[in-house]
Amino acid sequence: MRAQILAAGFLAAASLLGAGQARADADNFTEVERGKYLAILGDCMACHVGSDGQSMSGGHMLETPFGRIAVPNLTPDPETGIGRWSADDFNRAMHEGKRPDGTHLYPAFPYTSFTLMSRSDNDAVFAYLQAQPAVKNQVDRSTLPFPFNVRLLMAGWNMLNFTPGTFRPDPNKSDEFNRGAYLVEGPGHCGLCHTPRNLIGGDKGGAHLEGGPLQGWFAPSLTADRRTGIGAWTEQEIVEYLRTGVTHRSTASGPMAEVVELSTSRMTEADLKAIAVYLRERAPAPAASNPTPVAATDSRMRAGEAIYLDSCAACHVGNGAGVAGIFPRLADSQFVQQGDPTGVLRVVLQGAKAAATPHAVTGPAMPALGWRMTDQQVADVATYIRNSWGNAAPAVTADQVKAMRSVAGGH
Ligand code: HEC
Ligand code: HEC
Ligand code: HEC
Repeated sequence: MRAQILAAGFLAAASLLGAGQARADADNFTEVERGKYLAILGDCMACHVGSDGQSMSGGHMLETPFGRIAVPNLTPDPETGIGRWSADDFNRAMHEGKRPDGTHLYPAFPYTSFTLMSRSDNDAVFAYLQAQPAVKNQVDRSTLPFPFNVRLLMAGWNMLNFTPGTFRPDPNKSDEFNRGAYLVEGPGHCGLCHTPRNLIGGDKGGAHLEGGPLQGWFAPSLTADRRTGIGAWTEQEIVEYLRTGVTHRSTASGPMAEVVELSTSRMTEADLKAIAVYLRERAPAPAASNPTPVAATDSRMRAGEAIYLDSCAACHVGNGAGVAGIFPRLADSQFVQQGDPTGVLRVVLQGAKAAATPHAVTGPAMPALGWRMTDQQVADVATYIRNSWGNAAPAVTADQVKAMRSVAGGH
């Protein structure tokens, strides 16, 4: 694609067209390349990828708390894609969450973050999308069950949860901090997963980036809390995690592995650093949440320890320290100590595979172990790792494991 555009630019420059045309083509080339990078920042491909695995021709079904929703075709096909859209139409979708006919888009499309993107950035993304090959793929957009299929309802949702925004840099902060803020809150839409939702799917006020459940996973807190957030992570550790999906603290699996593969591993080092600076400086740590650990003498802890030594210690090591670069450490792990145990249960029941990136090609895998443990055993080993080696987090019950099996499988 890049070669084609280069060739086109070259031919135009070499032809008898005026110098003005050549410059216009060169400008468009830069605009398309800029849009391509912005599409990486926004991870458009993660949701809009077509069944060919190459184009953004959509068709994929997205699980939401309200039902399954179909992802539309963004290629320039005039009938089934956005070939007939103008740059204004596109900007309106990104900025206001509305289709050209004025109907509301569902916020499974993260326009509540994209609204902070500038007009010039949206124009570049649009130029990039329009420069892709058109792919015909008719997507059925009416898949949500009643009453959520009523797009008019979205007008009410928007009144409660959404005001189109503009990104305002903080004049008291560095350019790097402000770039990070733009990336995290705007195109990067990190809050889509890392901010808990309220009952109608909007961001829970006052809990920004404090961690939230999604489709049987849990996106941990990104606050400065040292036990559950990134307060103890250095800038370099955050950069490393986003670039490769692996640090000695944690490995990215599930939805975060996808974010790393398609988006953050392709960001520039400067942008990753800006994200790290912003996350570390954006807000002081919330009042320390220090639950009392479940006592080592508790029967659940004793049962959990026996299971741990039998089934987990071979990889994660007896004291939970893991093995750098291969088996994540569980001691002093933010992932393990989230208030909500969904992430831990998911990994134990179903296993997990780390991200594959150009920086770390074959990710290590965690085997699924749920099939050979009872609900009580899974609960006990989870309680054990959440309350050993200095960790502290609420105990896990067999009922929580049972509920998790029905979402995530792992029988
Ligand atoms: C988390 C998944 C997700 C991501 C990431 C995402 N989208 Fe979407 N997008 C959707 C869904 C779902 C819809 C359909 C919403 C609806 O039907 O109301 C949609 C709709 C759209 C539409 C409206 C199209 C139409 O025909 O109505 C546009 C334009 C769009 N997305 C552009 C983008 C761009 C550009 C990016 C990257 C910067 C992006 N999206 C990233 C899920 C996503
Ligand atoms: C599609 C949902 C989703 C999006 C979008 C997303 N994340 Fe995540 N993130 C997760 C999940 C789930 C985990 C836990 C994965 C694991 O540990 O295996 C995670 C883990 C992390 C962690 C490690 C936390 C820890 O304590 O282990 C960091 C750091 C992180 N994400 C940063 C980001 C940033 C920065 C963005 C935006 C650029 C982002 N995430 C966007 C779902 C998401
Ligand atoms: C064969 C080696 C192996 C065994 C046995 C094993 N694990 Fe893992 N575990 C891994 C690997 C590799 C990962 C990283 C996978 C990933 O990133 O998706 C991992 C990830 C995890 C994570 C997520 C850590 C994070 O920061 O994302 C938890 C929690 C975990 N294991 C707990 C356990 C428990 C509890 C047991 C025993 C019931 C266990 N593991 C047994 C290899 C193993």
